[in-house]
Amino acid sequence: MHSTTRRLLDWYQTHGRDLPWRRDPTPYHTWLSEIMLQQTRVETVIPYYERFLVRFPTVEQLAAAPLDEVLGLWAGLGYYRRARNLHAAAAQVAALGAFPASEAGLRALAGVGDYTAAAIASIAFGCDAVAVDGNLRRVVARLAAIELSVQAGPGAARVRRWLEDKLPSGRAGDFNQALMDIGATVCSPRAPRCSACPLASDCQAHGQGLAELLPVTAPRAAPRPVQAVALLVVRDGALLLSQRPAQGLLAGLWGPPDRVVAEGETTQAALDALKAGIPGLAGGAVEPAGQVEHVFSHQRWCVQVSILTAQEAWSEPPACRWWRPAQADGPPLSRLAEKLLERNF
Ligand code: ADE
Repeated sequence: MHSTTRRLLDWYQTHGRDLPWRRDPTPYHTWLSEIMLQQTRVETVIPYYERFLVRFPTVEQLAAAPLDEVLGLWAGLGYYRRARNLHAAAAQVAALGAFPASEAGLRALAGVGDYTAAAIASIAFGCDAVAVDGNLRRVVARLAAIELSVQAGPGAARVRRWLEDKLPSGRAGDFNQALMDIGATVCSPRAPRCSACPLASDCQAHGQGLAELLPVTAPRAAPRPVQAVALLVVRDGALLLSQRPAQGLLAGLWGPPDRVVAEGETTQAALDALKAGIPGLAGGAVEPAGQVEHVFSHQRWCVQVSILTAQEAWSEPPACRWWRPAQADGPPLSRLAEKLLERNF
């Protein structure tokens, strides 16, 4: 075994975190925890994990439960698609009779990507698989002083090779989880605690005084400018809100109807098309109400806002509802929607 691996595993035995899913790492426990841990912190996950196991002690019981109950227990954990996938994967496992015991078999379950398949295969089945996520990339970028972006390409390939070279056969689960714990408790993104690190003597970045400077972060591409139009439809003090589709930007959130101005389209044509898409609106007079800027991670929206005062008796178009801004319990609004309303209500 590589000496770095030996030091890492020794440290894990005494300093590894005592986490509920580590006490009895069955395939069901490991899978459930790994799905919950996707994009979510350990401290947030623990109470959800424990409640799920009280209600669903086995994967068959989870598969047999109504989806609504699963979604209810998931409420507050975020990224709800995970809960739907969890329920679908439980049905897959129940139909198979057991969890698949290989990375490839696990990868076929709903909601299980490369990282999660490798994590479950190594932790629950003892397979020799490296589970590489953002935290491990950061840790290895420092250990091996990789002065390239480790997100993708040659830098990411070097991370994988470094891990595969150190992987102790038969103990990949401990190896992966030890590195996760180093990443979570010692080798933090900013101000790593090198004095508490069992691998400080192995760490090339530490040796060269580079730990805080790695990993290198690729400069983000500037957000792409997007022109859009939005329509504040007002009727008797109430505002028309529409719900965004379940997929894509701001999925499922509510806001005034809007539309991206297509390539080669004028703002006026986009506004006319937006109006035409809302039954009952076509005749109303539209007044300009200024402009709102909003930056998403990859798009910079410049929204031309208009106000339309609708007639008294006009029903709700599909996927829309009337909302009074003073009302305490409105539907969930996107931040863009809040900005559109701030100046006008
Ligand atoms: N994050 C993802 N999987 C984890 C695990 N098994 N232990 C701790 N943190 C994790």
